[in-house]
Amino acid sequence: MNNIFEAPFVKEMCDTTANMYRLGWDERNGGNISYLLDPAMAEAYLDPKTVLRTLPLDFDASPLAGRYLIVTATGKYFKNVAGCPQNNMGVIRIRPDGKAYDILWGFADGSRPTSELPTHLMNHIARLKADPEHRVVMHCHPLNILAMTYVHDLDEKAFTKTLWRMSTECIVVFPEGVGVLPWMVCGNDAIGEATAKKIKDHRVVLWAAHGIFGTGETMDEAFGLIETVEKAAQVFMTIGQMPIRQSITDPQLADLCHAFKIQPRAGYLNV
Ligand code: 13P
Ligand code: ZN
Repeated sequence: MNNIFEAPFVKEMCDTTANMYRLGWDERNGGNISYLLDPAMAEAYLDPKTVLRTLPLDFDASPLAGRYLIVTATGKYFKNVAGCPQNNMGVIRIRPDGKAYDILWGFADGSRPTSELPTHLMNHIARLKADPEHRVVMHCHPLNILAMTYVHDLDEKAFTKTLWRMSTECIVVFPEGVGVLPWMVCGNDAIGEATAKKIKDHRVVLWAAHGIFGTGETMDEAFGLIETVEKAAQVFMTIGQMPIRQSITDPQLADLCHAFKIQPRAGYLNV
């Protein structure tokens, strides 16, 4: 058995949480990450027969039955993950009936997975249907995107088009646009179901007055999506009080799509 503290997936979680904290996206216990692991990789670092605890789920996670995930812990601070991985995150495996999960490593001080686990698992189920290579769900509270949900219309098309216009790269990075949810109570199945509905054809969903969910095939992809949306929101919040003299037009956005051979969300560009 290899030393799990040296596992690439543990290192990736440590590096990413530290980086997100450094960027100010995860004050206090804000934010959570879950990462679907390759079974052979997980079993190279932990004994699949040693179950430390089993905890219930109150929705059907059976599409993920038998899957291993590394998940951040609830109430824990991203700034502390790298210094003490075993208390601040852990590896879980969804039970065959999808009604519970086993803890196989971590959560060592009695902690448990993030309160947003229903949203994470429902998002994994939705994204895997759209993309079998999907692996990562990431949630955080970046300043500018959070601020923007107070001052911008929450209509998804209007929000997306504003973000696309804030930086040339945006439409290339998220041509499908962003999903937007109005304010809701977090940490429960209802917000999980609402998010999963949107994430099936967006890889990014905003929670008004709360934060953002980004997904991807890799940690870099999920991180990069959030980083790009947050940068666009930063431009919006920076120029918000100033008269706009020029921007990126719809025909120019269409030219970008043509140049990068991407398909923007249908009906969003007036060309
Ligand atoms: P957890 O500490 O339970 O992960 O919650 C943080 C958070 O951002 C809730 O939305
Ligand atoms: Zn949150």
